[in-house]
Amino acid sequence: MRRVNINQLKAGMVTAEPVTTRSGQVIIERGVELTRPLIMRLSFYCVNEIAVAGDGEEAAPAAAKPASAPIYSQKIKTSKEFQTFQFDHSFVLNSIKNTMEDYVFEDGTLETDEMLRQTTELFDSCKTSLELFDMLHNMRSHKDSVYAHSLNVALICRRIGKWLKLDSEALDTLTLCGLLHDIGKLKVPSELLNKPDKYTAEEFALVKNHTRYGYDLLKNLPLNTHIKKSALSHHERCDGSGYPLGLTKDDTDVYAMIVAIADVYDAMTAARSYRAPLCPFQVIESFEQEGLQKYYPKFILTFLQHIADTYRNNRVLLNDGRSANIVMLNKSRLSKPVVQFDDGSCIDLSTTGDLHIQSIL
Ligand SMILES: [Fe+2]
Repeated sequence: MRRVNINQLKAGMVTAEPVTTRSGQVIIERGVELTRPLIMRLSFYCVNEIAVAGDGEEAAPAAAKPASAPIYSQKIKTSKEFQTFQFDHSFVLNSIKNTMEDYVFEDGTLETDEMLRQTTELFDSCKTSLELFDMLHNMRSHKDSVYAHSLNVALICRRIGKWLKLDSEALDTLTLCGLLHDIGKLKVPSELLNKPDKYTAEEFALVKNHTRYGYDLLKNLPLNTHIKKSALSHHERCDGSGYPLGLTKDDTDVYAMIVAIADVYDAMTAARSYRAPLCPFQVIESFEQEGLQKYYPKFILTFLQHIADTYRNNRVLLNDGRSANIVMLNKSRLSKPVVQFDDGSCIDLSTTGDLHIQSIL
């Protein structure tokens, strides 16, 4: 065993001791073979060094190795459906970029009908929720632009709207709320938006202004009022902890509160320079830990239940290195379903402390 600085860690090394956060929470068990996302996760938790087995390069993991089949994202990325979606996504993205830039920088008109038509067509090209989220999760990079984020949020909003059984007019309004929610970011210097490190308090105050800029850009256009309010209010939270106004549940816009959920989900499943993308169950756990009272109960519960349900029966990798199938969801703890191993034994993850789903296989 030897201690290795996280900058010297390599995929394939095996942990010799459980890795814990400063507060003592175990984030990787002993005997787990390190992967690149796991190593990135260590820096996210500010871990400086860890103990690895043997000389750190050749020891075999104590826990079972993950399945040797291609990992889930590789399977998606080589599929014909993904290639088609990627092509169509870039086309729509480019069109949205041109439309928004023309309006914000060239005083052109904001052609929302065409943006909506293209986004709806892209949405309809995915036959199931699983297909839509598989596509979106695998297109992510930490260089995602405001436009890519806006398109993804619009697609997720439309999916949530369908889960909420909204009518077609409301679905179209909600999709436009997602497409235009961050338009104010075009008025924020791009060096600041694309800064790889976390913001200082002063920088964050500047970035927060994008909500007011967005509202100002839309307020005089003949658009549904929910679209304008979503640009202003998508960072508000029901418990008053959001910005720019610190509104509480009764004063927030209902469409903006759906955009808020889609916005957070898209940000968490995106790669960041300081952490790997989170898998859907890690995102659900993050929502559960952050506190569901920040969101409209009906919206957040509908969203999290459907996201968890989307991955029911999928094969997953646990943080102790074992793989299993999700066989049953826990309604009160959606991030911790019941999983079944290949030998037929089952574990209810809601009863096992830090054992959790690390990725979809
Ligand atoms: Fe925003």
